[in-house]
Amino acid sequence: MLTQPLIFLDNQYHELNNDGEDVIQGLTQTPKSLPPKYFYDERGSQLFEQICQLPEYYPTRTEAWILSQYADEIAQMTGSCELVELGSGSSTKTRLLLDSYQKIADDCRYLPIDISGGILKTSVLQLQQQYPDFSIQGLLGTYEQALAHLESNSLRYSLRPASGLSRMIFFLGSSMGNFTPQESDLFLSQIAHALKPGDYFLLGIDLQKPKEILEAAYNDSQGVTAAFNLNMLSHLNWRFQGNFELNFFTHQAIYNQADAQIEMYLHCQENHWVSLDILNLKVSFQAGESILTEISRKFDLAIIQKQLAAQGLKTLKTWTDPQQWFGLILCQAQ
Ligand code: TRP
Repeated sequence: MLTQPLIFLDNQYHELNNDGEDVIQGLTQTPKSLPPKYFYDERGSQLFEQICQLPEYYPTRTEAWILSQYADEIAQMTGSCELVELGSGSSTKTRLLLDSYQKIADDCRYLPIDISGGILKTSVLQLQQQYPDFSIQGLLGTYEQALAHLESNSLRYSLRPASGLSRMIFFLGSSMGNFTPQESDLFLSQIAHALKPGDYFLLGIDLQKPKEILEAAYNDSQGVTAAFNLNMLSHLNWRFQGNFELNFFTHQAIYNQADAQIEMYLHCQENHWVSLDILNLKVSFQAGESILTEISRKFDLAIIQKQLAAQGLKTLKTWTDPQQWFGLILCQAQ
């Protein structure tokens, strides 16, 4: 029997919903910035799926390769689990994990969490067909809403009694790199709170490598990343009744070697005003200024393991590809 495909976390966690407050904050500070979660409206999620297929964008392919080699080992290490994925998108790479878990258990549960309802619903409906032995239900909301939900009631919405199943939260695609170091610490402590001792956390991270490779990955020759970056402004236009003129901005990503992070900007080309009516906000832009829309930090495996350990998440094993471009870390809550 198929269950209702989605649970709407928005309705339960209004207090975490501060819709638009973060936009006001970002656009009224100097230099201006915008929170990366606004990339992911329906079109943004589709563009991101295209980014994952670009020849220059190595992270998705490399992480998928690591999973294709080691997903069986991961499943054997953890045993059957409630699998919780943060930022699941189309769940393409997840299938590699689900295939391995299917081999070892018949009582697994998969809870994908995403901020974009269309892509989440489509992938849940497909996965329910393809993995009939799994209980699968999507949670629609932000990471904060999802982690609050997981922490407060791991059982209420379960499709089956939890019956001692371990939980494994996984966070792939180096999305943790999109948080500042302070945000990462907060995020990891929220992860730790959503786990019981003995539960697991599987983290995919992009590793440090030469600047040319990194910059090419975020400035692709077909311009998909540029369209993705600019789409954030269209999203703000419809969501907050704004009048951003996309032609006044251009995309650029640079690698900041000192901070080991890609920085993604929208550079403003004209002096102008932008209003976002729903937020009661009017902002002046100068030609030559930029909006920082995202950072993507590049990690060192040894350092990140210390940060995980500081939150009570002990590394059990790490895997990489032969070039050591990408890393996968399996940790266990203490
Ligand atoms: N987590 C992805 C990364 O840091 C997100 C991402 C990839 C991204 N390409 C992008 C975000 C381009 C904005 C623009 O690699």
